[in-house]
Amino acid sequence: QTIQWFPGHMTKTKRQIQSSLKLVDAVAEIIDARIPVSSRNPDLAKLVQNKPRVILLNKCDMANQTATKMWIDYFKKQNLVAIPVDCKSGRGLDKFAPAVNTVMSHKIARLKEKGMVNPTIRIMIVGIPNVGKSSFINKMVKKNRAKVEDRPGVTRGNQWYTIAKNLEMLDTPGVLWPKFDDKTVGEHLAFTGAVKDQILDIELLAVRLLDFIKELKPADFITRFKLENEDVENIDSYELLKMIGKKRGMLVSGGEIDTERAAIMLLDEFRSAKLGRITVEMPQGR
Ligand code: G4P
Repeated sequence: QTIQWFPGHMTKTKRQIQSSLKLVDAVAEIIDARIPVSSRNPDLAKLVQNKPRVILLNKCDMANQTATKMWIDYFKKQNLVAIPVDCKSGRGLDKFAPAVNTVMSHKIARLKEKGMVNPTIRIMIVGIPNVGKSSFINKMVKKNRAKVEDRPGVTRGNQWYTIAKNLEMLDTPGVLWPKFDDKTVGEHLAFTGAVKDQILDIELLAVRLLDFIKELKPADFITRFKLENEDVENIDSYELLKMIGKKRGMLVSGGEIDTERAAIMLLDEFRSAKLGRITVEMPQGR
């Protein structure tokens, strides 16, 4: 579900998140492990301010494992705790509660000094559309199923779930906008399918994806399209798209190659990781 962001809508969303933030101790920021830069909201740090944060590198099943490790180190250097997760299968989710405890350790220690035994930590989920917020919440809730019953002082309309010992999660995630005014960000979001195809020229997008992929030359991509004997790096990306279309027999009447169909197929296969586990954005130089 792609959201159209308007200034008024953004202000409203921001306010909603700000009011939810008042109810929580920490924030879980979900990003896409394939595009850890473009899938982040530019204003989040300012919005969250000094609340502890855990970064969930989601869809890590589709990202390059080495790259994901590098991103975790990158965040670590910024004093941020990041963990790889796959909210489709649930892999990595067992590390979530321990990660929250890590980022909350100072506060928990202080509360304990004040005499509070096992204080309850409350968290909320934030992220841009399509990163997997609902998948995360569903998986966590299904696993633990405990709904927190009406508690005095809790604003009506807010539902909490106990997802681990002394850990409660707000049922509704904060939906944030991406940095959509940046052309590269827009392209990378479109590669992953996070933004609607209709707003971009599909063939142009496929060409841009090929510009990137032909340099990387992932083995799955090469074998899938039988490009072993081609010098892919030095083939113009539009020609490469035609080549791929031809290999798949995507022709229109007259024998010409149906590049639009080829583009749709290429993007589709990239989005489902059939071309390999590909991370588009790397931490180097950031
Ligand atoms: P949102 O709430 O942040 O908007 O995201 P949502 O959970 O709806 O997830 C968006 C899409 O990403 C869904 O696919 C979901 O299944 C998929 N997804 C979420 N987490 C992961 C993950 O870790 N790995 C993989 N491979 N996919 C993930 P969809 O095509 O919209 O739906 P469906 O095909 O699952 O039915």
